Amino acid sequence: MEWTRAQRYLPYDQHSALELLNLQRQAATSPEQLKYHIRPQSGLLNDPNGFSYFNSQWHVFYQSFPFGAAHGLKSWMHLVSDDLVHWQDQGLALAPDTEFDSHGAYSGTAKAVGDRLFLMYTGNHRDENWGRTPYQLGAWMDKDGHVEKLQAPLFVNPAYVSEHFRDPQIMEHDGKFYAIIGQQTVAEQHGQIALWTSDALEHGWHEVGKVNVGVDDLGYMVECPNLLFVDGHPVMVLCPQGMDQQTMAYDNIFPNTYITATGFDFYTATMINPQPMHNLDSGFDVYASQGFTAPDGKTYLISWVGLPDLSYPTDEQNWANCLSQVKELHLKDGQLYQTPVAAMRDLRQLDTAINLNGETTMIDPTFGQQGELQLTIAPDQTGTLHLAANDDRSQTIALHFDTEQGQLALDRTKMAHPTATDYGTTRTIQLPAHQALNLDIFLDHSLIEVFVNGGAQVMTGRYFNDQSNQVATFNQPTQVTGTAWQLSAK
Ligand code: FRU
Repeated sequence: MEWTRAQRYLPYDQHSALELLNLQRQAATSPEQLKYHIRPQSGLLNDPNGFSYFNSQWHVFYQSFPFGAAHGLKSWMHLVSDDLVHWQDQGLALAPDTEFDSHGAYSGTAKAVGDRLFLMYTGNHRDENWGRTPYQLGAWMDKDGHVEKLQAPLFVNPAYVSEHFRDPQIMEHDGKFYAIIGQQTVAEQHGQIALWTSDALEHGWHEVGKVNVGVDDLGYMVECPNLLFVDGHPVMVLCPQGMDQQTMAYDNIFPNTYITATGFDFYTATMINPQPMHNLDSGFDVYASQGFTAPDGKTYLISWVGLPDLSYPTDEQNWANCLSQVKELHLKDGQLYQTPVAAMRDLRQLDTAINLNGETTMIDPTFGQQGELQLTIAPDQTGTLHLAANDDRSQTIALHFDTEQGQLALDRTKMAHPTATDYGTTRTIQLPAHQALNLDIFLDHSLIEVFVNGGAQVMTGRYFNDQSNQVATFNQPTQVTGTAWQLSAK
């Protein structure tokens, strides 16, 4: 369905309750629907927002257009969790209902301050000529989940910045508040990250300067910049749009990348000793990832699995996209590791365990599409692992491995419903040659997440095969150890 502007920006209260109920039912009963990941209650989900720990619970919000699979009038939906795995929907938290966020409560972050949670986000405002003003806004959420917006914007784009100025990350350092934010310059239309500061949070914001990340070309816009401290070291996570492939090789329409450094100077907005930029995920669809360091000292990350400007097969069922599982981050020898959180193990249905110990071809002809496979493939083997496959493997999500040369490819060429084929149907990573390959693979009906060698690399992708495809098998006898489980729904 083609959405007109009027349909996409129709105020929420002009949609009927019945329409929303029908959309929720359609999403809930979709065969491709996720069972243990965060998914939209209805309509379209995009960026994770406000990922935080507050009032003894984990909180995450997501960008939502609840009325269909379109990037329409956005709001924040809210979920809470006790373990980062089982999430309870709390419903709409930030509606686009003021002058400043009239055309969307866009992405932002959250930070516990005192006994309240401060939400900082971009209000997308359009005038009658469709001219855009991006207001940076604040709101407080109390312990009962009640949200109150600040009356006035915190700040707007300075004269040298275009209408593309959004996605603030609120931080506190040395008794001051800071925000980093993505922007585009007016003069050259360059993507940048800016650092702003305030002593008082609700007012007094001013710009520190452009963040020096050690890379000049950040395309024409940077979305969702996120400065994390992983094991005490700064890691800038960012989504540069339109970046030259020479700056960093990538296959997706827009990459989600990261840059590590040995320090971050808040006074000069500088990453100290920045390292080359890397892809955060080596799969097909990770974008707008957002993380934070929790009171337990660990840094956690969650991603949108979906990309801007692309359509997905479930659009026809009026819902789209999901969030990744939460990933725990660590730095080892300057390399970022992403691993499942401990509570993911609680999803394993232990009585379904299939143990693999040596030469294996068929893993399980009825494995289905809601499980985990933790495998170690022996060195010096080549082959293919087929998942969500039918008997003749004309439909499959395939992992081609070569532990002799050191290569792994995630292949979604043989899909019942191909997606984003213009950007290629395989993603390939390099591995150490002649070494065992450790994989922790999660399937959730239309999502695959592959943690490679203890999380040194992650390959995430949506895939769309018939749910009657149950087979998990190697294409030939393979030396492998490990376990496969069915996972319970959250
Ligand atoms: C990234 C993004 C953000 C914006 C939000 C709107 O996917 O475009 O830059 O705030 O989505 O939904």
